[in-house]
Amino acid sequence: MPEIRLEHVSKRFDKFVAVDDLNLHINEHDFITLLGPSGCGKTTTLRMIAGLETPTEGRITIGDKVVFDAETGVNISPAKRDIGFLFQNYALWPHMTVYDNIAFGLENLKWKKDDIKARVDEMLKMLKIEEFVARYPAELSGGQQQRVAIARTLAPKPQVLFMDEPLSNLDAKLRSEMRTELKRLHSDSNSTFVYVTHDQLEAMTLATKICLMEKGVLQQYDPPLTVYAKPANLFVADFVGNPTMNFIKAKATPQNDGVMMDFLGVKALFKSKESFALEGPDVILGIRPEFFTICEDGRIHATAYSTLPAGMETTVKVHLNGELISSVVFGAIDFKVDQPIRCDIVGGEICVFDPKSTKRLAIGSLSVC
Ligand SMILES: Nc1ncnc2c1ncn2[C@@H]1O[C@H](COP(=O)(O)OP(=O)(O)O)[C@@H](O)[C@H]1O
Ligand SMILES: [Mg+2]
Repeated sequence: MPEIRLEHVSKRFDKFVAVDDLNLHINEHDFITLLGPSGCGKTTTLRMIAGLETPTEGRITIGDKVVFDAETGVNISPAKRDIGFLFQNYALWPHMTVYDNIAFGLENLKWKKDDIKARVDEMLKMLKIEEFVARYPAELSGGQQQRVAIARTLAPKPQVLFMDEPLSNLDAKLRSEMRTELKRLHSDSNSTFVYVTHDQLEAMTLATKICLMEKGVLQQYDPPLTVYAKPANLFVADFVGNPTMNFIKAKATPQNDGVMMDFLGVKALFKSKESFALEGPDVILGIRPEFFTICEDGRIHATAYSTLPAGMETTVKVHLNGELISSVVFGAIDFKVDQPIRCDIVGGEICVFDPKSTKRLAIGSLSVC
């Protein structure tokens, strides 16, 4: 099972830099998601690893084999890189039935007829397309075609599987089911998965590690919960999580026992277990909605701007000194519009960002005075 290593990989289209000096080490059995907004270079990165796009600079190694090196001119063809693909624009063979589309790759690999039948049946069942087995692609909906394409790619049990937004044409329910199946498949299969998505929830729930990019530049490469709790900068903090993190401008004054933060008429003492240096008095506090709680004895007095109960949890837009702050509380509650409420800040994962560099300076707790 190979590991994949990218060293100083860049891709330019004329003067436009699509991927900029990317260093990435994908361990065997990892489930990596390449995440970021449209146009940030995800597909280009995947295509470079696969050998479908030639990097302008850098080196790519799969297992112990250098598959691309700009300096020595090594460039191994995609077919010799031992990888399975599943791209957004899948192309099924129009003149073959669903069965034959899935079986085709296995026949090429000279599998025995009985093994092919068993494997195709297994894939049909997993992707819930048994009833379409004798149909041709033109007789299927987009979502059904996509499921056939997934089945076809997974059938030969590839060691490294590349997927580029494979669930984008499916409806929400099926997408959620397929996520469950993909995660299951990853642990059952022993394969390394590299998965492109612009959907932060998909990346959060599937990946062992997220590679978050913006404008061709790697922003953070960490497990999902680290990306969520300890975002490297404002871009990452804002991109991951829904509702998004609250960003609140504050004035910081260092004290003996912490840093006093002054924001929206609130004074609160910030304490961190790690040492950190402030660049100046201006900072941006990053507070996840679940850490801005609503409780009877809360020390912040505010009002409820609007309340969105979703059953299991409720999102409340809290009105505090002219700003709106998102709060998520467990359970269903329904505040009246402009009803006075009391809030507090909890937990040890409050972020402090530098407004100039946008980098996270510190993480810690914030107790309202
Ligand atoms: N063949 C190409 N020629 C010129 N520009 C390209 C080409 N392929 C991709 N790009 C540009 O490179 C950037 C990254 O593209 P891509 O990797 O497809 O982004 P993503 O998959 O993250 O949406 C985009 O701005 C895109 O327009
Ligand atoms: Mg893409």
